[in-house]
Amino acid sequence: MLDKIQNLFSDTQIQQRVADLGRQISSDYAGRSLVLVSVLRGSIFFTTDLARHIRLPLAMDFLSISSYGEGSEGVVRITKDLEENIAGKDVLLVEDIVDTGFTLKYLLRSLQSRTPASLEVCTLLDRKARRIIEIDLKYVGFEIPDKFVVGYGLDYKQQFRNLPYIGVIQPDKI
Ligand code: IMP
Ligand code: MG
Repeated sequence: MLDKIQNLFSDTQIQQRVADLGRQISSDYAGRSLVLVSVLRGSIFFTTDLARHIRLPLAMDFLSISSYGEGSEGVVRITKDLEENIAGKDVLLVEDIVDTGFTLKYLLRSLQSRTPASLEVCTLLDRKARRIIEIDLKYVGFEIPDKFVVGYGLDYKQQFRNLPYIGVIQPDKI
């Protein structure tokens, strides 16, 4: 099965890029503290690696969502909410991949209503080809082609999250 996955970004490439992002975030937010909000489950590996490259006072919180309908155009719902109050805090939302943008639009609206001091997005992957909702992504790990990807947190039917690399999978061949 794993031989059907075509390597896109190696473990080393990912770690180097995550370190770059951590340095950039540390310098952009210098003198402040940050709340990393991770969207379960896809961004868990990215968030924990990224956090270790950020040299700032930092809190981490998690939320979980479910979306109905293919392509997340249906209803997005928070199934597990943040534990902490983010009012007045500098918040960085950490996502695995932004595709159509529907999920992110919903999340940003929900978080913005809690009046954080600032709210920005850091996504590991950006698949611009399928974007429907335009959203400003402050930090992007990699732009990717219009292919379904797995690994480093990303799943296909809950499998492959544990791969240390990111690869392209053709779901009809699995
Ligand atoms: P959007 O709402 O269309 O932007 O979808 C974003 C969500 O769909 C991501 O947070 C992922 O959970 C999921 N997703 C989109 N593309 C992929 C992919 O290629 N692999 C795994 N999950 C994906
Ligand atoms: Mg996700």
